[in-house]
Amino acid sequence: SSTKRLIDPIRNAESEFSSNAKKGSTTVAMRRSKEVQKTKMQETSELSGTAIGEIMGIKEGQVSSNIQKPINQNQEHATAASFAEIQRMRKSLPAYKVRSELLQIIRDHQVVIIIGETGSGKTTQLAQFLKEDGYCNDGHLIGCTQPRRVAAMSVATRVALEVGVEIGDEVGYSIRFEDKTSWRTKIKFMTDGILLREFVTSKMLEKYNCIIMDEAHERSLSTDILFGIFKNLLSSRKDLKLIVTSATMNANRFSQFFGGAPMFTIPGRTHPVQIVFSRQPVSDYVESTILQASKLHLSNPIESGDILIFMTGQEDIEATCEGLKERLIDINSKKKNRNSADSELSDIEILPIYSALPADVQNKVFEPTPNKRKVVVATNIAETSLTIDGIKFVIDCGYVKLKVYNPQIGLDSLQIVPISMASANQRSGRAGRTGPGVAYRLFTEDSYFDDMYVQTIPEIQRTNLSNTILLLRHLGVRDLMAFPLIDPPPEQSIISSLFDLWTVGALDNFGALTKLGIQMASFPLQPSLSKMLLIASQSGCSEEMLTIVSMLSVPQVFYRPREREEESDQARTRFFVPESDHLTLLNVYAQWKANSYSAGWCKRNFLQYKSLQRAKSIRVQLSALMQKKSISIVSSGTDWDVIRKCICSGSADQAARLSGLNKYVQLRNGLELRVHPASALFGAGDLPSYVVYHEMLLTSNEYINVVTAVDPLWLMNYGVVYYNASRRVDEEEDVGLYAAESKQHLKDEVDVSIEQAMMKKELI
Ligand code: CDP
Ligand code: MG
Repeated sequence: SSTKRLIDPIRNAESEFSSNAKKGSTTVAMRRSKEVQKTKMQETSELSGTAIGEIMGIKEGQVSSNIQKPINQNQEHATAASFAEIQRMRKSLPAYKVRSELLQIIRDHQVVIIIGETGSGKTTQLAQFLKEDGYCNDGHLIGCTQPRRVAAMSVATRVALEVGVEIGDEVGYSIRFEDKTSWRTKIKFMTDGILLREFVTSKMLEKYNCIIMDEAHERSLSTDILFGIFKNLLSSRKDLKLIVTSATMNANRFSQFFGGAPMFTIPGRTHPVQIVFSRQPVSDYVESTILQASKLHLSNPIESGDILIFMTGQEDIEATCEGLKERLIDINSKKKNRNSADSELSDIEILPIYSALPADVQNKVFEPTPNKRKVVVATNIAETSLTIDGIKFVIDCGYVKLKVYNPQIGLDSLQIVPISMASANQRSGRAGRTGPGVAYRLFTEDSYFDDMYVQTIPEIQRTNLSNTILLLRHLGVRDLMAFPLIDPPPEQSIISSLFDLWTVGALDNFGALTKLGIQMASFPLQPSLSKMLLIASQSGCSEEMLTIVSMLSVPQVFYRPREREEESDQARTRFFVPESDHLTLLNVYAQWKANSYSAGWCKRNFLQYKSLQRAKSIRVQLSALMQKKSISIVSSGTDWDVIRKCICSGSADQAARLSGLNKYVQLRNGLELRVHPASALFGAGDLPSYVVYHEMLLTSNEYINVVTAVDPLWLMNYGVVYYNASRRVDEEEDVGLYAAESKQHLKDEVDVSIEQAMMKKELI
């Protein structure tokens, strides 16, 4: 079945993965997840360094703001005390104990690999040590990269607190579309994707004299690419220090990659962790987690310690939090002397943490919960990036949400797959930081040894490389096969990405960047969106497209609270533009603007105010970039058809034809698709014959989301390569003819034209 084809890629691609990796077969049933797998979602995945996050710093400048402007004596005392407390904590960290050795080895070598247990102080202390050692004195910056934007924000805020400054002052951070740095900034935390982008404007990275590449063991795509760039750069920037930090895995390979760079291990104390495997394979890991967590909570005194749960993603995390709360309330109400109406739990605090959560909510996981047991339900961000103190018990569901790319059908999706052995060990280790702990693994010992890879497959080997190749070409790297990489990507992925770039017109027949390609590379957007924007500028609707692209770059715009689903669905309908979800988003924004960007108006109309605000800020930044590049910003006024044409130009490879009741067939790969129930297209009655879409959600059904009706003629024009390269129709009267023929032959023709394109691909 088509679902199978989509779940298979990680297995199909096995042969290309590292040789020491074990074969994995998913014995445990994939969980019910409504919206687990998303295609074309590079930019919102948990790991992606370039994804967008919520604004607002965490623990924003608590100390400094109070110290500088004390409101009253008590408060001043309180903050002074906590500042002293923080300094005391700093000094107790393992990294602090080896401060002078660390600084010495960095002085003596250009590249140093630093290894240390999670929580030893690598992330929060190293940059501070370097600053204290005078590395910023000549006006240079210390940069510290993180694979996750949540981590970049939260560690920057923590370091600002330790240094005693406001975020954005001496300590700042930068993630895509959000720059919290200033001319005063000396320590800059950023996602690895941001640093990669900085090479576009500054090939020698002159601003910096130290770069710390943190969490390198994560092996994110941007980290791996940065390694290659640094390998070339370091010989011409002898004054630049590169510090690579890593959990114990992978460190040797980093050292080898940089010609035998010295490795420094921060001695750390760890406590024994008892590992408890599941005796039976678990069929529903959320259910099992809830049972395990409630059992732990009820049978251990609160003082014994907190619980950390590893879950896959937002949906499972929310289900776990709610399920656990319900179960405990249920148990409570059955006990005597309890008020059965009691809907609050007095002895437990259940806290989620995942990337789409607003920063102030994320921050709660770090706060102490006196007289209550803290239960943190996290994505694998808590595996190494964030350290939560006081954890005694770990529950590991055994799965992770990973980006998986299938080059055969050109599909990038987020899938829930078993974790690696290295991940399992990291997760368990979180229980032994402050004292002996226990880790409950919701998988059997057999599946640990038989089904799990030794290491997680690096992102570069399981992702679409179009964006990266575009950027590298822009940086003058022509031959990716000759580019220094720790692990090369599968050749198929490179070819398929080159092909995609060629079809959108970013590369010419000889693989060189076109003018369009150069412009696309200068936008921090996925190729389909940057193309839409550029074509819109030529077609006279870039004003509108700016809004659409910005709206597509933020999380959920519509708000659908559980208890008020009907009401909110009705509110959403009022914004519908029947032929297009893209235009519906434009409409929402236009009306919000007409209502003076009001928060109250959003609330009344079930719209996420924060998302809209964010879209507005992204819009400002993109429009500034367009102005800088002299790309015209023009409005098409009331003509919205031209906008749909431009949407078609950017998404021509993601097109589908109606073939039954709410059933579409993807034109390139023949997958059966359904339009998502929330789409505006349902407002129109009959569904349009041809559509393009922004993303695909893979679940029990394959849904397409953010869909726009298009004319097949446009598809032929913009998707020349996919759809009948030889018979391009430009004249009105041919439309009917083509459409009629295409009903029977389009599928075959598509196959033929893909074949033709594959032949052309050999040229590249
Ligand atoms: O990077 P590494 O895992 O080696 O450690 P770190 O992130 O620098 O954290 C060192 C210590 O700082 C942790 O043990 C936490 O106690 C503390 N910390 C914190 O309290 N709040 C944060 N947001 C980050 C770290
Ligand atoms: Mg760290």
